[in-house]
Amino acid sequence: MNRIKTISELRKIISDYKRLGKTIAFVPTMGNLHQGHLQLVSMAQKQADIVVCSIFVNPLQFGEGEDFAQYPRTLDDDCHKLQKIACDIVFAPAMSELYPQSKQQGQDQTQVVLPGISDILEGASRPGHFTGVATIVAKLFNIVQADKAIFGAKDYQQLQIIKQFVKDLCFPIEILSHPIVREANGLAMSSRNAYLSKEQRAQAALIQQSLQKIAQQLRAGARNYQQLENDAQQLLDAQGFVSDYISIRCPDLSLPEEHCRDWVVLAAIKLGSTRLLDNIEVSL
Ligand code: PAF
Repeated sequence: MNRIKTISELRKIISDYKRLGKTIAFVPTMGNLHQGHLQLVSMAQKQADIVVCSIFVNPLQFGEGEDFAQYPRTLDDDCHKLQKIACDIVFAPAMSELYPQSKQQGQDQTQVVLPGISDILEGASRPGHFTGVATIVAKLFNIVQADKAIFGAKDYQQLQIIKQFVKDLCFPIEILSHPIVREANGLAMSSRNAYLSKEQRAQAALIQQSLQKIAQQLRAGARNYQQLENDAQQLLDAQGFVSDYISIRCPDLSLPEEHCRDWVVLAAIKLGSTRLLDNIEVSL
């Protein structure tokens, strides 16, 4: 496995592969890799000849008072895991490589802003977050020049945002999503699960259960969306969670009408100081 730190080195290797007619699939990550990430890499391996996985904790997508400083950085361990599953290239650049000459870790440089969709749900709770995500992903797409990129469906809104800017800005890349990978108890896998105690991990299974319950109610014909959301939030809050939102939306994240037949139910729930995301897609 090739472990690369600089843009120029990566560009050289990718262009050599392309000259040989090889296709490239890309898995962007912030590291602290778990089974969910490794499944993205496995999917990428089925989609292209060469797989690039990037590891970069992107300051631009963290707000003030968020966990940028504490975010787990486990590069050697991550590389070991990637080597074991035969990933071809790890791109792990330093901050100065991706945000050169920036005095504010990218805040003072060009950014990719998606109006509307960036300001709802996660964007309402974390202003600027999706601008940070879209900016770094656009930069990485330009650096890696992959044919396809794979993202996990746990970050549903992130996935929609990436699909939209790729379309809006005509990036020649295909975006694929991988279904949410879960722990045995149903908790969606996330690097932030590392912040949970053993008891909290067990308790967090309730998030997925409450989304399943809403899915059942939708399939059974319930259409009082607000009521379904409130009931689920109250139930979780009574169990010690602090729910930021549970929201029933159309697949494109607009508000659903009564005659809808497809929905996505999204949740952002705090357990202790850890903010957990989950969602479920429902179709009749
Ligand atoms: O989903 C993530 O881990 C990050 O948001 C991403 C896409 C790697 C951009 O930093």
